[in-house]
Amino acid sequence: MIKQLLTHDRYSCRSYSDRIPTAGQIREVLETAHMAPSACNRQPWRLMVIGPDDEEGRQAVAAAYNRPWILSAPYYVIVCGVADEAWVRPFDNKCHVDVDVAILTEHICLAASEAGLATCWVCNFDPAELTSKIEFPQGVDPVVILPTGYPATTDIPEKKRKELDDILI
Ligand SMILES: Cc1cc2nc3c(=O)[nH]c(=O)nc-3n(C[C@H](O)[C@H](O)[C@H](O)COP(=O)(O)O)c2cc1C
Repeated sequence: MIKQLLTHDRYSCRSYSDRIPTAGQIREVLETAHMAPSACNRQPWRLMVIGPDDEEGRQAVAAAYNRPWILSAPYYVIVCGVADEAWVRPFDNKCHVDVDVAILTEHICLAASEAGLATCWVCNFDPAELTSKIEFPQGVDPVVILPTGYPATTDIPEKKRKELDDILI
């Protein structure tokens, strides 16, 4: 099951269907995904869900990420990091907030895929634009926008990856 999710079902979807998942479905995905591991179990993250009826939120996302396809998604999960809550490696002071946020994000993607939903990691957004339109609590930084919904088509693109032997060192 996990092999199917990793090698096929989870992919970056950039076109979503008009069919809208329920808020309950999104919540169930997040309930599953937030079992993600984190360094020292600090869970230095917050989630904001922007739904289909939140026109202001949707416009804020669209302004921060200027690609028309993003508006086809009915939901956006904004995965945020809280650096002050994250574990810091004592040897070199490396803050692990982005590592933890990445794990949670990918757990959301995988849980969504298992539920028949699609997502796409979006990091290439303008954080200043987003935070000028959406108020985040102090110290809570948006790291990833995850458009989430049913995919517009059932065609799943083939995975393009380096050969395993090319990344083994
Ligand atoms: C950290 C990260 C940031 C990404 N940011 C974007 C983005 O801003 N816009 C986008 O369309 N895709 C983004 N992607 C998706 C990647 O392009 C995609 O994962 C990669 O091409 C592999 O394709 P796949 O996800 O379909 O397997 C991002 C992925 C990751 C992991």
